[in-house]
Parts: sequence; C-alpha cells; structure tokens
Amino acid sequence: MVIIYHSNTGFTRQYAEMLAKAEKLKAYSADEAPAGLEELVFFMGPLMAGHITGLDKAVKKYKVKGVCGVGMSPASQQVMDLLAKSNYTAGGALFYLQGGWAPEKVGWVKRRMVGVATKSIREGLQSKGSRRSPEEDQQLNFLIHGGSYVAYENLKPVQEWMKTL
Ligand SMILES: Cc1cc2nc3c(=O)[nH]c(=O)nc-3n(C[C@H](O)[C@H](O)[C@H](O)COP(=O)(O)O)c2cc1C
Repeated sequence: MVIIYHSNTGFTRQYAEMLAKAEKLKAYSADEAPAGLEELVFFMGPLMAGHITGLDKAVKKYKVKGVCGVGMSPASQQVMDLLAKSNYTAGGALFYLQGGWAPEKVGWVKRRMVGVATKSIREGLQSKGSRRSPEEDQQLNFLIHGGSYVAYENLKPVQEWMKTL
C-alpha cells in the first residue's frame, strides 16, 4: 500500500508523513505520485465544505482501498455520517482526522467561507463572555486565529485497520 495525499495548508501532509514513517509506507503528494501506480492506495485529503479534496480524481486513477478526510472540526459520529454521504470512496474504508485551521495560509475568499460556516458557533461562544469554560476559550481562539490538532495518537484507528489488510 502507498499513501497519496492532497494538502493545502500542511495538516494532511503532516498526518500522511507520520503515518508513512510509522507504517513504513511511501507517501506521495497527489502531484508527484507516479503514473500507472499498481499498488493499493490510502488516500488522504482536506475537507472543503464536506468534500474530501482530490478524492474524485484519486478513485478514478488508483486502486483506493482507504480514504481519510482531514478537517478542522473535532471527530464525531455526525462528521462521519456527513463524510460518508458527501464522498464516494468506491467501497474503500473511510476515516476522519482532526487537522487544524490556518487562516493566514488561505486566500480571503476561502477564509470568508470558513468564517461564514463557523459564524454561529463563534457568536454563541462570544456571547458567553466570562462564562466561557477554558475549553470554550480554546475553541473560540482556534476558530478565530487557527491552530493545530494534529497528533500521532489520532492515527490509531487507521493503523489498526491497516493491520487487518
Ligand atoms: C474553503 C474551506 C472549506 C472548509 N470546509 C471544511 C469542512 O467542511 N469541514 C471541516 O471540518 N473543515 C473544513 N475546512 C478546514 C480544512 O479542512 C482544515 O483546515 C484542514 O485541516 C486543512 O488541511 P490541509 O492543511 O491539509 O490543507 C475548510 C477549509 C476551507 C479553506
């Protein structure tokens, strides 16, 4: 198996490189993956409006056995259900990892799109004022200024699944 990933601001690349190192696999960015690859592929890509970037092309081009979306929201059943609904994996297993948010690395149009999508959460947190818990303070800071939740431990379910292949 090889890892092919797409990454705009670097969080998916970090996960792909960590996973490659731990599992002794090769990781290629979608641009540099060799043509005519015969091996099974684990595809990783950032979420954009619920869709895993680069996945459509990857399922057409490669034998995709597993797929992993990387987004800014914490992992939850709701996120998984949405992912499954909005992404065609050609029968491949589906995973989700929380990456991060780097507003300074995206253009203003995309920054605004995320701003609109997170508006009600931000406003809800802001209106709590001094009643915000430390976790809520952290969440608000993340939504406004960005940050990273990339962590090696998050890869565990993917690694367990890889062992079963
Ligand atoms: C236009 C846009 C849309 C996004 N949509 C989602 C989304 O639907 N769900 C989510 O969890 N994160 C969303 N994000 C956040 C990215 O998926 C997140 O920052 C991810 O970690 C980026 O990975 P990368 O650094 O590999 O590009 C969006 C970001 C942008 C710029």
